[in-house]
Amino acid sequence: MVCNPNIKLKGQPHRWSFSLSNLIYLRSMNEQEAKERAALLAAELNQHNYRYYVLSQPSISDYDFDMLLKELEALEADFPELRNPNSPTQRVGGEPTKDFRTLKHRYPMLSLGNTYSREELMEWDARVQKGLGEVAEYVCELKFDGLSISLNYKDGQLVQALTRGDGTQGDEVTNNVRTIKSIPLTLQNGNWPADFEIRGEIFMHRSTFDELNRKLAEELREKGLDEDEIKERLYKNPRNFASGTLKQQDPADVAKRSLDAFIYFLYLENRMFDTHYQSLQAAKEWGFKVSEHTKVCKSLDEIYAFIDYWDVERHKLGFEIDGVVIKVNNYHQQEELGFTAKMPKWAISYKFKSESAATLLEKISYQVGRTGAITPVANLKPVVLAGTTVKRATLHNADEIERLDLREGDTVFVEKGGEIIPKITGVDLEKRTNPNPHVYITHCPDCGTQLTRNEGEVVNYCPNEDGCSPQRIGKIVHFIGRRAMYIDSLGAETIEGLYKKGLISNSSDLYSLTFEKLHKLEFDVDPSTSLRLPENDEQRTRSLQEKSVNNILAGIEKSKQIPFERLLFALGIRMVGETVAKKLAKHFKDIDTLMSASMEELTAVHEIGEKIAENLTAWIAADTNKAIIQKLKEAGLKLQIAEDENTSTTDKLQGKTFVISGVFVRHSRDELKALIENNGGRSIGSISKSLNYLLAGDKMGPEKLKKATDLNIPIISEEDFEAMLG
Ligand code: IVH
Repeated sequence: MVCNPNIKLKGQPHRWSFSLSNLIYLRSMNEQEAKERAALLAAELNQHNYRYYVLSQPSISDYDFDMLLKELEALEADFPELRNPNSPTQRVGGEPTKDFRTLKHRYPMLSLGNTYSREELMEWDARVQKGLGEVAEYVCELKFDGLSISLNYKDGQLVQALTRGDGTQGDEVTNNVRTIKSIPLTLQNGNWPADFEIRGEIFMHRSTFDELNRKLAEELREKGLDEDEIKERLYKNPRNFASGTLKQQDPADVAKRSLDAFIYFLYLENRMFDTHYQSLQAAKEWGFKVSEHTKVCKSLDEIYAFIDYWDVERHKLGFEIDGVVIKVNNYHQQEELGFTAKMPKWAISYKFKSESAATLLEKISYQVGRTGAITPVANLKPVVLAGTTVKRATLHNADEIERLDLREGDTVFVEKGGEIIPKITGVDLEKRTNPNPHVYITHCPDCGTQLTRNEGEVVNYCPNEDGCSPQRIGKIVHFIGRRAMYIDSLGAETIEGLYKKGLISNSSDLYSLTFEKLHKLEFDVDPSTSLRLPENDEQRTRSLQEKSVNNILAGIEKSKQIPFERLLFALGIRMVGETVAKKLAKHFKDIDTLMSASMEELTAVHEIGEKIAENLTAWIAADTNKAIIQKLKEAGLKLQIAEDENTSTTDKLQGKTFVISGVFVRHSRDELKALIENNGGRSIGSISKSLNYLLAGDKMGPEKLKKATDLNIPIISEEDFEAMLG
């Protein structure tokens, strides 16, 4: 236990200064003294927390803060009765939640009416004035792009936090919310009501988001994944990250992700204040974080000025906003205006348009996908949009080019919404110089085969499935994918390199790769073919080093244990998705029976229709595919269903609880869950003292491992688990 006798607390007993050691000091405390000391420490910590996270005006060092916290932790360990859920020690993570309870909201969580235009805003203002028969004063606020939360306080203590859910009921995430340091657990002195609800938005700062994503990328790189695959796995935006975080089962994990929250609405039964603005100022005094960018506006012009200012300045904020919220300030007037079924009539949100920029459309090129689908791509003169340089945009299909009447050499408007791939929204016709409409390709840009277009579809296809390189590469990329054979030491970049070097031409060739063939192999990487890589665009040469090669070979070896149904899906047969693959595997049990099935036998399987059966029959008939299957067989892959997967019901695991963590070779997590449940056990979400087993696969989180080890929980492998089932 660590204490720092030099940190003075208000009202601190004098004996502190002469204690021989902190341990002796604590041991010598009686219960009453400990209680008083803990209350002092908690008050002090709450105050420092408020100064740091709400006011951004810390008045002690991080070290001193940690010392106070450690002292309180030690006190609570010695006097467990002093522990309470709102103690500052809970900020780093309280009890995990297995299943989030769904609870009814005290007041429904409504949404807001949206507008993108000044005209609509003017009309809304006119409706408000008409409804009231007098002018209204407004409060303009930022519209935070996070997730809304309702917080309930009783006697100054946070007692419950609910997500929005469907607006009527939401998930209880109180323990997780306790880790958000800008949300007070105990209110500061003030005239707060004994029982009230307050609402706000939880969000993640851009810097936190970038840092967490950077760390994740590093970890994945360490594991030997290539850049394309890494990009794929990173979190897409701070809102999604925040939302996923709030539903983590272990508050300690939430604490590490440093969420933040602004408060924007207070529900009061008796009218304590006349205006919304006053209520926000009071909330600030009670300890809540209220945005300083909140302004009382008396006219539409003032509102417009607020909007215009933030439309530009929002990029300088450290967090995302997607608009401005305008609320009638006076509570009397709010009441008079009331609600529609879905939203208050006294508030509206003005949403910012996605950022857009004009640039030159230099060239329209074409990509060929795994299925032969052609995607036209706009190659642009690089332009900076919402902080990133945009060089390409998807044009979707021929119809889209026609709809926009796009021509090479046009000046086009590019927009970037929440997504990574930007899109073209229009053409500046005044700047047009090219008199010729764009002519869409009729033949595959890669293999020259004439394109086809199915009736009623907008996409063009290259039908040359076997002879067209991008399709062949795409199929192998699909084969190694996470939901298929999960060879995550390989990525699209490497597959393309190996293909172009002539080392692989279909998925079965992966199993004849050797260390000698791969070691020091050099190939060129050309990210300009990817729509998803706005940055780091340069062409480069990659050379496979020992570590990567070993990872690749280990990944390929491991994939031999993947169950039949996933292998069937991995083959990339048209219309054979995961569900169909499962049905086929279950029905035919092995590849030979499936390959010799007639149309009638195929369509006899529940939910396998004519079209799927036709695709399958055509696939089976091709000699190239027969050769692939033969090679996969020789490599020892699972081409028949595992007999023990025929779901038997036993009570072998009766009463036992399991936490499943990580990635497994022979079963998916869902399959493991089903096996546990079919044999009388229970699969639960988080580790606690009472857990029986941690079923651990690859890449299990270090936190879980540590926790299980600390609590002496047996950690078992997939093989151990299978042995338990006999
Ligand atoms: S007021 C009845 N104020 O926007 C009051 N909402 O589209 C309703 N939001 O679900 C909410 N910033 O999550 C309000 N300053 C702000 C807001 C805000 C973001 C979110 C909130 C709500 C959504 C409505």
